[in-house]
Amino acid sequence: MPESEEISRGLEDVNIKWTRLTTIDGEKGILRYGGYSIEDIINSGAKVEEIQYLFLYGELPNKEKLEKFRENVEKGYNVPGYIIETIRKLPKESDSVAMQMTAFASLAAAETKFKWNKETNRELAALSIGRMAGITVNVYRHFMGMEPAIPEHSDSFAKSFLKAAFGKEPSQESIDAMNAALILYTDHEVPASTTAGLVAVSTLSDIYSGVTAALAALKGPLHGGAAEAAIAQFAEIGDENNVENWFKNNILSGNRRLMGFGHRVYKTYDPRAKIFKSFAEKLVKNNKEAEKLFKIAKKLEELGIKQYGAKGIYPNTDFYSGIVYMAIGFPLKNNIYTGLFALSRITGWQAHFIEYVEEQHRLIRPRAVYKGPEPRQFLPINKR
Ligand code: CMC
Repeated sequence: MPESEEISRGLEDVNIKWTRLTTIDGEKGILRYGGYSIEDIINSGAKVEEIQYLFLYGELPNKEKLEKFRENVEKGYNVPGYIIETIRKLPKESDSVAMQMTAFASLAAAETKFKWNKETNRELAALSIGRMAGITVNVYRHFMGMEPAIPEHSDSFAKSFLKAAFGKEPSQESIDAMNAALILYTDHEVPASTTAGLVAVSTLSDIYSGVTAALAALKGPLHGGAAEAAIAQFAEIGDENNVENWFKNNILSGNRRLMGFGHRVYKTYDPRAKIFKSFAEKLVKNNKEAEKLFKIAKKLEELGIKQYGAKGIYPNTDFYSGIVYMAIGFPLKNNIYTGLFALSRITGWQAHFIEYVEEQHRLIRPRAVYKGPEPRQFLPINKR
């Protein structure tokens, strides 16, 4: 039997669950959350907390429901002291996503009473979203050499997060861009991170361990790590005039992949990349470094599409997101852009875990096709 019939490499086109959360049409470049198109959501001016609610409760909230939900999220802002201490013991050069993993692994270690329960799953997931905000603020402040801080109540999740991270009032423009980035990264069906988390919770391990597993898979450069790797390549090119040479020597030579390009599901322009690009266009005017990298990115996009477009390889969501994060004020440092992706994606991860555990639970346990030696006699070490 040919290998392709025996195994599904990369689990391509394997359905591991059903979902009401997110749908993607990879040929047409369409993304919908709970039936709402990503463009409609962004254009409506919705706050990410409405989308977090939609993912956990299946419908958009009214004002009262949203207020109550936000209270649950905000309870998580004040992360336990042992987490702040753990983060601050790590070297300042540490990877942001690995620091988030350490924090969630610490929650898994300490919160031994966690039980999956329909009555409390959503409240705990809201609490974890708040904790992720508190954790990410402190991961950032640690490697930037700043004192710990806790997000406080404000009129939006994005504003509370930015204010605590930077320790000053953020501009309305950066709050709007952060809010949009948080929405764009909320969920994407079952990519590697969500699948890794689902494998963990399918054993009925706790929700914090599920998030830890998801973070481990997100970190790699073929998935969330591309958010930082894409902008790192623009910085490496350094100047608009170097783009063509760099592309020839690094990409056309086959030495490297173009980061922020290509997708397992989208065979056309990722709709999230279009939105990130439009935010980048507005924001870079106030940030010289981001403006320079944006010019490089646009030129690289042109070459990339010319070379790979016919193969269905286009910019994905990570191509322009780093430029938006840089223009908001986050430096290209410690993989924080991927950490900001995780701050958002924790909503989708947990919503998928809940959907799976509550309604379609079964241990995930695939098989492997054995290709090793035929049965043979085991010889003790002194006879080998
Ligand atoms: N640059 C150059 N060639 C590429 C790229 C790229 N970015 N992406 C795919 N290809 C080529 C690849 O070399 C292969 O060519 P051939 O058939 O000649 O050997 C073909 O396309 C298929 O590649 P694959 O790795 O089997 O395809 P996949 O479906 O596993 O690819 C991917 C998905 C995301 C791993 C890949 O596109 C990639 O490595 N992209 C760069 C990393 C990146 O931007 N990741 C972010 C993904 S989307 C958002 C997220 O998850 O954070």
